[in-house]
Parts: sequence; C-alpha cells; structure tokens
Amino acid sequence: MRSRTLWIGSATLAFLLLAGCNIRGFFVRYEDEPVFHGPAQEQTQTQTAEATAGGANEKGAGVYARICASCHQPNGQGIPGVYPPLAGSELLQGDPSIPIRIVLHGFQGRIERGGKVYNGVMAAWGGVLSDEDIAAVLTYARSSWGNSAPEVTPEQVREVRQKTQGRSRAYTEAELKQPL
Ligand code: HEC
Repeated sequence: MRSRTLWIGSATLAFLLLAGCNIRGFFVRYEDEPVFHGPAQEQTQTQTAEATAGGANEKGAGVYARICASCHQPNGQGIPGVYPPLAGSELLQGDPSIPIRIVLHGFQGRIERGGKVYNGVMAAWGGVLSDEDIAAVLTYARSSWGNSAPEVTPEQVREVRQKTQGRSRAYTEAELKQPL
C-alpha cells in the first residue's frame, strides 16, 4: 500500500515536472524565436528603403496603397481598357497642375493610352485628401515604376485648390490641356 502511494506520488511528480518543462519550453521557444519575426520585419524595412531610394516617400506610398492602387494597381500598370496605367503617364508627369486637378476633381471621357481605349470616370478626391496627402501621393507616383517627374508640394496643391474652387465636374482631357 505504501509503495503504491509512493509510486503514484512519484509518477504524478514526474508528470508535473515534464509538463512544467514542456510549458516552460514552449514559452521560452515562443518568446526567444527571432527567426519567426525576423524576415517579415526585414522585408518591410527593405521595401521602405527601396521606396525612399526611389525618391518617393512613406506618406505618399501609404495614400497610394490605400486609395489609388485598387484601380491603378500597386505596380502602376492599371488594368488594360479599364484603368489607365500611371507608369509612363504623360498627364501624371506633366505640369503639376494637371495631376493635381485630376485628383482634386476627377477625370472622365474617352482617352487612348498605349493603343487601348478608356472611357471611364475617376472620382474626385479633393474632399477626402488634404493638400499634404495629394502632394505626397503625386510625388510618389511621379517617381515610381520608372516615372521621373519632380515632386509636387502642398503649396502647389493649395494654389490649384483655390483656383479651381467651386468646380463640381470631373475634368476632360481637353480641359486639362488648357493651362490654369
Ligand atoms: C475607382 C478607380 C480609381 C481610383 C481609386 C483612382 N483612379 Fe485615377 N483614374 C481612374 C480612371 C477610370 C481613369 C481614366 C478616366 C477616363 O477614362 O477618362 C483615371 C485616370 C487617372 C490619371 C490620368 C492618367 C492618364 O495618363 O490619362 C491619373 C494621373 C490618375 N488617374 C491618378 C490617380 C491617383 C493619384 C489616384 C489616387 C489618389 C487615383 N487616380 C485613384 C480610376 C481611378
């Protein structure tokens, strides 16, 4: 009777010890595991570094990803026949007042880009995006995917916003070609 109690006792003790080790082992491994978190962090840092090296900025990249990428795609290539590409876009890289007007008030009408016809409507983002947001996203797009146009400043956006105050229709290509 006594040895049986002893046996059960030590078996229970052994079990608890093992379980204890295991639980401890689990937590230690979980907390100390650098490999698990490492690659993801490195990747984000590399991407940010690349964006900065490309003359772009984190704020602009963020606005682009949040708003423009769903149509113009993360790689700026758009969707043929539906959303025109921003990579290589003349309007985007032209006089800053052109892309500023597009983002503030929208863009519509039949256009041809790279042999494809587009006849859609881009909505106005002037009510949602600040001058800083618009400057940042245009600076980002004008210097990404092989584009190389100078940055757009919040002051330029503010000026165009003032000059086009009261406009409630999306621009057509012909209208955009007229200087402000
Ligand atoms: C819901 C879809 C959609 C979103 C979101 C969108 N666009 Fe557009 N964008 C369009 C469409 C559609 C056109 C072409 C309109 C047409 O067919 O006349 C266009 C055209 C453009 C053009 C002119 C390109 C060219 O070469 O003619 C620029 C520049 C542009 N968009 C920038 C932006 C930026 C910057 C953002 C984010 C702030 C953005 N767009 C968000 C749909 C979108």
